[in-house]
Amino acid sequence: MSASETLLDVHDLAKHFTLTKGFPRPVTTTVRAVDGVSFAVQRGEAFGLVGESGCGKSTAARAVLGLIPPDAGRVRFAGTDVTDAKGSTLQRLRRRMQIVFQDPYSSLNPRRTIGQALTEPLGVHGLARGRAARERAIALLEEVGLPPSAYDRHPHEFSGGQRQRIGIARALSVEPELIVADEPVSALDVSVQAQVLLLLKDLQARRGLTFVLVSHDLGVIRWFCARVAVMYLGRIVEDGPVSRVFGTPRHPYTRMLRDASPIPDPGIRSQLPRIVGEIPSAADPPAGCHFHPRCPRASDICRTVYPQWRADGEGGVACHHPED
Ligand SMILES: Nc1ncnc2c1ncn2[C@@H]1O[C@H](COP(=O)(O)OP(=O)(O)OP(=O)(O)O)[C@@H](O)[C@H]1O
Ligand SMILES: [Mg+2]
Repeated sequence: MSASETLLDVHDLAKHFTLTKGFPRPVTTTVRAVDGVSFAVQRGEAFGLVGESGCGKSTAARAVLGLIPPDAGRVRFAGTDVTDAKGSTLQRLRRRMQIVFQDPYSSLNPRRTIGQALTEPLGVHGLARGRAARERAIALLEEVGLPPSAYDRHPHEFSGGQRQRIGIARALSVEPELIVADEPVSALDVSVQAQVLLLLKDLQARRGLTFVLVSHDLGVIRWFCARVAVMYLGRIVEDGPVSRVFGTPRHPYTRMLRDASPIPDPGIRSQLPRIVGEIPSAADPPAGCHFHPRCPRASDICRTVYPQWRADGEGGVACHHPED
């Protein structure tokens, strides 16, 4: 690849949710789902976002794509500000960034055929109609390993893995440059996971796609991604090249995640991390470093001061006592 180009630039992104619960005295709490997240993704790269359930991965992914409005921060895509984009600018940006969900069933209308699901975005973005749209949809089906006969079928006639292929075809239909895949294989059987990951890898190479892969599964991230950011309670605690981050973790949380999930063969699911202690609530994160109650290296400063980001050339870490 020639000189790298930053395709996606996320700066200090925040998304908080306000919840009101309780009767007769309702109490309002704020969940800091994403609390100042920054990262950049180069064109053609596969970038991973990893962390335990509830750490804010999906919220970050949705805010990056402009599917939910962030409360703070800025997202730039190919130099254009997504956060401020409106109308036709936003529409054009939306075409260039697509999402693949964990459960494509939830995003496919059960009453509509696969053909309708695939041709609809083409119409919305003015890319093709009628016979041309049909031909394009059938070519897409082929590209993701499904027969042309799938065109007239309905989602329930397919297995989980096939439905995920349909979800991928739908994302590809509008010729995006960036695909954000949110736990794209987590709902699939282990053998099927590997096939779908291989398909995504193949598409990345063939189409020069850029990926943000969201997963709680280190095995998946390690196999698919070149760089990774580790999230904990709404923040990135460490990032860098996958081999460095998982090979010699600097943040005690990264080490804990890594040690809790032995990495088996590529593309094969690792165990869900078994981790010491509970994840505190994002509605009430611990003072100082959010990780300190679970951290073997915690000292006084960790209990009071959130650690500053320490950049190290290829990435960085937010820890008062990082490993060397
Ligand atoms: N619409 C919402 N309203 C209120 N709270 C929300 C909403 N969406 C997410 N949250 C909260 O924000 C936090 C982050 O959630 P998010 O779904 O982004 O995490 P995640 O890392 O994707 O988790 P998982 O691995 O389970 O998918 C959680 O505490 C969650 O309960
Ligand atoms: Mg999620």
